[in-house]
Amino acid sequence: MLRLNDVRTIAVIGAGVMGSGIAQTFAQAGYAVRLQARRDETLRAALERIGRNQEAMARAGLLDREAARKALLRIRTTTDVSEAVRDCQFVSESVPEELALKREIFAIMDRSAPKDALLTTNTSGLSVSAIAAATTRPEAVVGFHWMNPPHLMPPVEVIRGQQTADAAIELTCKIAGRIGRVPIRVEKDVPGFLWNRLQLALVREALHVLEEGIAGPEAIDQAITHGLGLRWAAVGPIRTMDLGGLATFHAIAEYLYRDLSAAEAPQGLLANKVAAGETGHRAGRGFYDYRDGSGEAAIAARDARLFELLKLQRLPAFCQQDSPHS
Ligand SMILES: NC(=O)c1ccc[n+]([C@@H]2O[C@H](COP(=O)([O-])OP(=O)(O)OC[C@H]3O[C@@H](n4cnc5c(N)ncnc54)[C@H](O)[C@@H]3O)[C@@H](O)[C@H]2O)c1
Repeated sequence: MLRLNDVRTIAVIGAGVMGSGIAQTFAQAGYAVRLQARRDETLRAALERIGRNQEAMARAGLLDREAARKALLRIRTTTDVSEAVRDCQFVSESVPEELALKREIFAIMDRSAPKDALLTTNTSGLSVSAIAAATTRPEAVVGFHWMNPPHLMPPVEVIRGQQTADAAIELTCKIAGRIGRVPIRVEKDVPGFLWNRLQLALVREALHVLEEGIAGPEAIDQAITHGLGLRWAAVGPIRTMDLGGLATFHAIAEYLYRDLSAAEAPQGLLANKVAAGETGHRAGRGFYDYRDGSGEAAIAARDARLFELLKLQRLPAFCQQDSPHS
């Protein structure tokens, strides 16, 4: 099995929203990157997006401009999957979320990548094991699930497929650390992995609260951004129980669980909005109204806040320094 320092070149397959940010992150950490998309036009757009992301990070004081320039030079592009993976030790796949397509791409990668290369998938929720089954090396296939926007979000889920070898998990976690990400180990290949299970449990209850008229969108969002989110940035929910006292949480769970949503399908409120085309800021309307063009401002405000919070976290990937490999 490869060791951390054997890994020098990374293939990133798919150059959309996720693939471009992932390529940027690996390049900024000093890795040589082979970025693949089917069309030259997509690759050009990806490099432009990376440039814009870097400029925003530089303006926020999270990235040195010279380091950013050097990182861009480490990215080579190609439209050919086989060529992209040929001399790589680690592959990060981010093509659209379709099992048949991912299996097809993994079969190509398996044929063309060096025999000891690790193959990882950024699937949001497809079975890692089903993707791995398209290869002759399921022990070297790992779920490596990034958060959007990938060039900024520190956690990356590392998911064990049914046949994934321990050594593949260990190496993937080490690589995550090397690129300044926090590896979150997920021991079972279950729908939603960890992040989306937690997120959707909260989203389900937020929709329930809205439907019942218990609180409006602003109140729900403020309870998180000024309350739970702030606390959870300091301690997660499990340690929160320890610090608050398990007996208290037990008592609350006893009377509250039965009152919480146990919806088994997306609630009507969400389904109706989607059916009406009110799908969020791009459509001009979601739970809030963006017809005055306030969607862009909402995104800019979110990103500015995220930059400030990232600075507070003091992770090495977001300090103005040159990469370890350069
Ligand atoms: N967008 C998110 O918030 C997010 C977060 C985490 C994980 N993911 C996962 O990452 C993966 C990619 O998502 P994205 O949002 O970057 O998608 P995207 O549509 O922005 O990009 C997909 C890329 O795949 C390429 N592609 C499209 N069809 C292809 C085909 N038939 N063969 C080969 N390449 C093809 C596209 O050119 C593009 O480069 C998905 O599995 C998604 O579930 C997305």
